[in-house]
Amino acid sequence: MARRPAVDLSTRLGSVALPNPVMTASGTAGHGHELADHLDPASLGAVVVKSLHAEPWDGNPAPRVHATPAGMVNSVGLQGPGVEAWLERDLPPLLATGARVVASIWGRTVDEFARAAELLADAPAEVVAVEVNASCPNLEDRRALFAHSTSATTEVVDAAAAAGRPRWAKLSPNTPELPDVAAAAAAAGAEAVTVANTVLGMVVDVEARRPLLGAQRGGLSGPAIRPVAVRAVFDAHEALGDVPIIGVGGVASAPDALEFLMAGATAVQVGTATFSDPRAPARILRDLGRWCDRRGVSRIDELIGVAHG
Ligand SMILES: Cc1cc2nc3c(=O)[nH]c(=O)nc-3n(C[C@H](O)[C@H](O)[C@H](O)COP(=O)(O)O)c2cc1C
Repeated sequence: MARRPAVDLSTRLGSVALPNPVMTASGTAGHGHELADHLDPASLGAVVVKSLHAEPWDGNPAPRVHATPAGMVNSVGLQGPGVEAWLERDLPPLLATGARVVASIWGRTVDEFARAAELLADAPAEVVAVEVNASCPNLEDRRALFAHSTSATTEVVDAAAAAGRPRWAKLSPNTPELPDVAAAAAAAGAEAVTVANTVLGMVVDVEARRPLLGAQRGGLSGPAIRPVAVRAVFDAHEALGDVPIIGVGGVASAPDALEFLMAGATAVQVGTATFSDPRAPARILRDLGRWCDRRGVSRIDELIGVAHG
């Protein structure tokens, strides 16, 4: 029988204690309970569900996803059932797996964020945190995503307090202001920042001579963006000091996850890798334990930020 690695993988993000640092990334594992066909959702640190608007939302026209070298572009456009339907229909089967759940919310205005957060106020305690997806378009400022502005980020993190549980702010890698935005999110009460969402991108269909995605523009994810995301985590760690960072962007293996931890992340999320291998988050978790065990690392937390020297 294989020996279990004697490594303490537990970690803490502000007031949220997790058994290990590997989560799913929002929007890449359905509503979460679908994962149970491939892995035990309760074995992960947490399952982060697809971003929820207060109301049902149709998302963007097809096509919405397209494979690119070492990644994919998507313009799913935050399709979802709305918080109430999610609480009633999608959350119970996920909770039945024993998973710790993180509810991601989005809005087009600060009020819409507040409404989504209010609707989560009575959610069960197993919804351990709310991830505020600040990397979505701000209707009141057409040029920008909320997370491209320190003040707009402050406002949406503040609005999410209505959920009455720990808040994490999911940021955009598409701005050089990311460290300042991360600091603003923390000052507004975010207990952790998630770094980062997709990199803005697009693909042209040369035969049709038109943008390939229905929404024209999309977000690039997968291994292609990992160095961008690792650098964003490195920068954010320098700016934030002790504020926990959740690294996300192209994690497909344990060494990928370790890059983020060493750059300063306390935990990681696995997104695009789950599409080609639905077991990816569980495999990465297992291999992280093995990696630490082989190198005599007794607590994974020892590795956080070591690349800063
Ligand atoms: C198809 C798809 C849908 C996504 N939907 C969401 C979403 O609803 N909310 C969110 O915050 N991020 C969403 N993301 C971004 C991911 O959570 C993640 O930040 C990004 O893809 C980078 O990680 P990865 O390279 O591991 O996929 C989505 C990504 C993909 C590919």
